[in-house]
Amino acid sequence: MPLVDTKKMFEMAYKNGYAIGAFNVNNMEITQGIVAAIVEEKAPLILQVSRGARSYASMNYLKAIIDCAVAENPDIPICMHLDHGDTFESCKQCVDDGFTSVMIDASHSSFEDNIALTKQVVDYAHAHGVVVEAELGKLGGIEEDVVGVSAEDVMNHLTDPDQVVEFVEKTGCDSLAIAIGTSHGAYKFKTAPKLAIDVVEKVEVKLPGFPLVMHGSSSVLKEFKDLINKYGGDMPDAMGVPEDAISEAAKKAVCKVNIDTDLRMALTAKIRQVFCETPAEFDPRKYLGPGRQAIKDMVKHKLHVLGCAGKADECL
Ligand code: G3H
Ligand code: 13P
Ligand code: ZN
Repeated sequence: MPLVDTKKMFEMAYKNGYAIGAFNVNNMEITQGIVAAIVEEKAPLILQVSRGARSYASMNYLKAIIDCAVAENPDIPICMHLDHGDTFESCKQCVDDGFTSVMIDASHSSFEDNIALTKQVVDYAHAHGVVVEAELGKLGGIEEDVVGVSAEDVMNHLTDPDQVVEFVEKTGCDSLAIAIGTSHGAYKFKTAPKLAIDVVEKVEVKLPGFPLVMHGSSSVLKEFKDLINKYGGDMPDAMGVPEDAISEAAKKAVCKVNIDTDLRMALTAKIRQVFCETPAEFDPRKYLGPGRQAIKDMVKHKLHVLGCAGKADECL
């Protein structure tokens, strides 16, 4: 089957209390690691491409890699999604490039400007059969080149449940990224965090059946942070989103969970390990291969955290 949009995935995820993993891809090894995991676990998949990924790898290469994954796995629903589109033009370009889902992130603008830009993207995307994710509320950390609110300040910029109905009605967006206390990147929390699950619950009451998205959902796995630091890295102590909080959100209205940092850390940890243990190594396959394997193992585990393992068939 060709690339799919997220409609059926989100319908089933909402109904059956799980979430779809949305994993960021920047090259072949990352994509192959993710896809190998979802094939073994028979899970639906969202592969997401940031503007940074587009400029790093070039869209033609990334699209060809993703097309390969789709062609090799006709029984797995795979969506190609733009992560954090910032302008109408960047979203339009992705619609024109064959993406099946785009995100317009105007969360840093005023409520009115966010509505206006999101609606403009929705009108174009829907006319071309593409679904749209929007964002309301502010996350912490750095997303693309935009510095979000500080990790200490995220709880003051949560999504306001009183705004969601007007926002969704006026924009026509298909899913909504909400701010519930998470940040992008590896330095999310200094102490064990408590996410604002009550915001999910309040939005769920106001918008029954409407799919929500959780960004900044990496757990900053200790296993990889320790390996990175053991082999010459210097990552300060920090905590990510606890996996039990992700499972809890996935059972509620959160239907899409964005993960990038955990992929980066898995790949980096293994490359560092090979370089340190075998300093004479210069064959990229000998360090990218273990990195790809670590991504696969980590993603397999995440699919169980999200509850979407074994759900590919029902999302077709
Ligand atoms: O939200 C940010 C994602 O982790 C993508 O990051 O823009 O560096 O590719 P990137
Ligand atoms: P992490 O940095 O927590 O992996 O979040 C990724 C993300 O939200 C991409 O949009
Ligand atoms: Zn994000």
